[in-house]
Amino acid sequence: MNPKQIIGEKAAEYVKDGMIVGLGTGSTAYWAIRKIGELVRNGLQIKGVPTSKSTEKLAFAENIPLVEIADLDHIDITIDGADEFDPRKNVIKGGGGALLREKIIASLTDFYIIIADASKSSGTLGTYPVPVEVTPFAWQVTGRQLGKLGCRVSARMDQAQLFITDNKNYILDCHFDRIEHPEELAVQINRIPGVVENGLFLNMARLLITTNEKGEIVIFE
Ligand code: 5RP
Repeated sequence: MNPKQIIGEKAAEYVKDGMIVGLGTGSTAYWAIRKIGELVRNGLQIKGVPTSKSTEKLAFAENIPLVEIADLDHIDITIDGADEFDPRKNVIKGGGGALLREKIIASLTDFYIIIADASKSSGTLGTYPVPVEVTPFAWQVTGRQLGKLGCRVSARMDQAQLFITDNKNYILDCHFDRIEHPEELAVQINRIPGVVENGLFLNMARLLITTNEKGEIVIFE
């Protein structure tokens, strides 16, 4: 079985009756949502909060009842993917461009689960570029300011156009190679005017579900 499916379905086991459930974005979260859909069809009573328009569509297709985030002050559990993770369960997210909604939902979540296969594992974050969501206004200025933090900045493209997020913003991918102090970096990035949010999700994951070389499930608590 595909490791993404194995860990996605494993994470779905943590979803229980009555919970408000944050539904992640991406090809690993897809498997968790499919499994949750199956559990709902078998009687599980939950309400979902999607982290992106694409996940909202998938949740509809799975008949998972949804709730408006505006009405919530906490979410019981969220299951989401990641682009890179370190041994402290700090992660880089936003490869799919959904990092803003993902971070808002993560920040409201009591039990945040990251699902990421072994290929995303890293001793020190930075192999994957940090996606930063920025306002379209003066995005080039914001990009130059980001570059002063010591990274190479590339504007995310969608074919020949700038990639547009669900929130009508742009994404600047910041290539650091190696991030020694992610907490400091996250603060520095978010201080730059024009930055909406960054893809460093630090000290948020309660559980990280991954696989080893043999494809077996490994859980970091
Ligand atoms: C989307 C994300 C995804 O969770 C991340 O890109 C991982 O995706 P995948 O599971 O497809 O590798 O952060 O914004």
